[in-house]
Amino acid sequence: MKRVVFNQKGGVGKSTISANLAAQSARQGLRTLLVDLDAQGNSTHYCGVDVNNDGLTVADMFKQVVGWFSKPEPPEAFVRPTPFNHLFVLPSHPSLADVERELENRYKMFKLKETLSELETEFDRVYIDTPPNFNFYSKAALIAADRFIVPFDCDDFSIQAIDRLLQNVLELRADHNPELQLEGIVINQFNAQAKLPIELIAALEAKSLPVFAQKVHSSVKVKESHSKRMPLPYLAPAHKVSMQFAQLWEELEQGQNAPQ
Ligand SMILES: Nc1ncnc2c1ncn2[C@@H]1O[C@H](COP(=O)(O)OP(=O)(O)OP(=O)(O)O)[C@@H](O)[C@H]1O
Ligand SMILES: [Mg+2]
Repeated sequence: MKRVVFNQKGGVGKSTISANLAAQSARQGLRTLLVDLDAQGNSTHYCGVDVNNDGLTVADMFKQVVGWFSKPEPPEAFVRPTPFNHLFVLPSHPSLADVERELENRYKMFKLKETLSELETEFDRVYIDTPPNFNFYSKAALIAADRFIVPFDCDDFSIQAIDRLLQNVLELRADHNPELQLEGIVINQFNAQAKLPIELIAALEAKSLPVFAQKVHSSVKVKESHSKRMPLPYLAPAHKVSMQFAQLWEELEQGQNAPQ
């Protein structure tokens, strides 16, 4: 099962959510791959992998596609272990930005899907972190994935961003990946005491959009886990927010196994 975490709005929790769901999956003993398609490399860094050392990255994989990287490496060569058991990363690199135009010009949007299919037997779960743009990389991710998850940060602009996002994704789905399903919207940095989040969630539900029952609260523990480069299931498994990620992960797994 391949899931993409996408919202073109910046700072809503894409990297935090994709890394923590991947970590939770790995902690459950599933071989899990986190693909980081954002040139910022936040989820790569968060999972304890350094992009600026010698290993290969997802940028090299894309450069190979356009002939800028000539070594005939198989897809596994671009994947790296993390310090955590069963958790692997296809790491980002700042040079993703350099190769984007070339990939676009040559219509290589399907290449990621092919690569991940080749890795299918190696991994039980794949999570894809995306940049805050509807660009080549987020499109490639939405074409490669089976499901997509939308983080939502409960501010007023987010609801407008969701309408735009769904319009874009529905169009892409119709053209390139009819199997893609909106799995649900994750309410992040939820504050149950404030009025606005409750109203915004009601507005999402009024549009018949699927909202995950488990919400993720705001906590300084999230920032601590970023700075320690240790996703929450490893840093503090009994913490409230770690339990929320564990429960959210269960919700995904149960939905995945439910009959359609
Ligand atoms: N539940 C949370 N509690 C506290 N802080 C959070 C939470 N979720 C995210 N953050 C913080 O919000 C900021 C943005 O989160 P994150 O980087 O995951 O978002 P993003 O959507 O990946 O951003 P970008 O669009 O830049 O890639 C980070 O500083 C992160 O630590
Ligand atoms: Mg991010």
